[in-house]
Amino acid sequence: MSTKPIGIFDSGVGGTSICKEINILLPNEHTIYLADSKNAPYGGKSQKTILDLSIKNTELLLKKGCKIIVVACNTATTNAITYLRNNYTIPFIGIEPAIKPAALQSRSKTVGVLATKGTLSSGLFHTTAKNHASGITIIEQQGTGLVSLIEKGKMNTPETKALLKTYLRPMLDAKIDYLVLGCTHYPYLKPILRELLPPEVKIIDSGEAVAKQTKTILKQQHLVNNTSQPGNREFYTNSDVAILKSFSTIEGEKAIVSYLDF
Ligand code: DGL
Repeated sequence: MSTKPIGIFDSGVGGTSICKEINILLPNEHTIYLADSKNAPYGGKSQKTILDLSIKNTELLLKKGCKIIVVACNTATTNAITYLRNNYTIPFIGIEPAIKPAALQSRSKTVGVLATKGTLSSGLFHTTAKNHASGITIIEQQGTGLVSLIEKGKMNTPETKALLKTYLRPMLDAKIDYLVLGCTHYPYLKPILRELLPPEVKIIDSGEAVAKQTKTILKQQHLVNNTSQPGNREFYTNSDVAILKSFSTIEGEKAIVSYLDF
């Protein structure tokens, strides 16, 4: 039993898509979310820089007393989670593109993965693809520019739509039947993606799986908060508070969103 908070970080507002899943599945846990929007996007940065930023975020969450850290960023997970697990004693939950379920369910045996350059070029991504998608054609696409647009709240703009159309073209030409969203910002593009994709193409992300895994690890390590009170929701950004606010709340829940220089 532990009343300490769950720490969650991302390069920006995207990881709130994961935070929401955690808040739904574990409503009595306190959560602290860090949006490192000042340094977003991580996707085009070097592995060393992504690692340094991940360590900085981890240290802050540890200072705030977190009992477990969810790396709610595919780019940070694929580039830094091995280091974090080897160098800190608390458990870390990571997120990776959901290639495995997509590969298992695909009938056309062709799956599209939309992710950042940092994720698609990482060793961990390729190991996962090799281990879980043999016999499947994976059409990889870097979502260059999308994270920056989402960070400005521009999900449903002509610019975003035009970029997505370009990125989806090779996947549609190859007849994908699953689109894997390999970046935690991208679930916020689902309404527009649904407009652009034929109905038979399914969209899949890892949010729910990450929340379930967090619950499993908390139970295994006897870290569950057994209170019946709803948990506190704290959100911190080193950039625009209003933007993070617009991404942070689940209907009916109160969140405290603040600026913090980190
Ligand atoms: N949400 C991050 C991810 O899942 C975005 C990475 C970035 O900042 O480029 O990969």
